[in-house]
Amino acid sequence: MSLDLASETPPHSPNAPLAPAAPHRPNTPLTPNALHTPNALHTPNAPLTPNALRTVVRELAEQPEQWIHLVRLSTEERWYQRLVAEDDHEVWLISWLPGQSTGFHDHGGSRGAFTVALGELEELSLGGPDQGLLIRRIPAGTARAFGPEYVHDVRNTASGPAVTLHAYSPPLSSMAHYDLRAGGLVRTSEEGPEQW
Ligand SMILES: [Fe+2]
Repeated sequence: MSLDLASETPPHSPNAPLAPAAPHRPNTPLTPNALHTPNALHTPNAPLTPNALRTVVRELAEQPEQWIHLVRLSTEERWYQRLVAEDDHEVWLISWLPGQSTGFHDHGGSRGAFTVALGELEELSLGGPDQGLLIRRIPAGTARAFGPEYVHDVRNTASGPAVTLHAYSPPLSSMAHYDLRAGGLVRTSEEGPEQW
């Protein structure tokens, strides 16, 4: 399976919404019908495939009434909120102001997918025969999916905010960060769920 796209790191800092906060709905789960597992052969506790996760985020992006009212923007860090927390997968909603980025990171062995619902992002990864730096523009409506070893850096290099939906399976358990140096990616730190 090709390691296609990218996902987002649930950002690292406590949410600090700027907007006067709408009645707080901490991680309001979606209704059961809002997110149906697209893989008919899916067995309980088996991870969803990257393609199934891509379907999850695409279908959710087409139902903005499920999440648009939750979106906040933060100048301190990317804002994020978990929308779905199931045993076998989770879904996050993330907003990005211009200049906000994840840095290179992995997903702790989870598979993932994300889609840009509003705005536009840019994804950096290493690939090709020489593991060179690849830069992809990810406009609204584009979805990316990736396998458990994928490492990328996602950033908002556009002039306006962006909103994205991300699915991971199994749910994220850890995330390592990397620096891109002359010899390649060098692991620099790791974070766990207590940090997001
Ligand atoms: Fe990611």
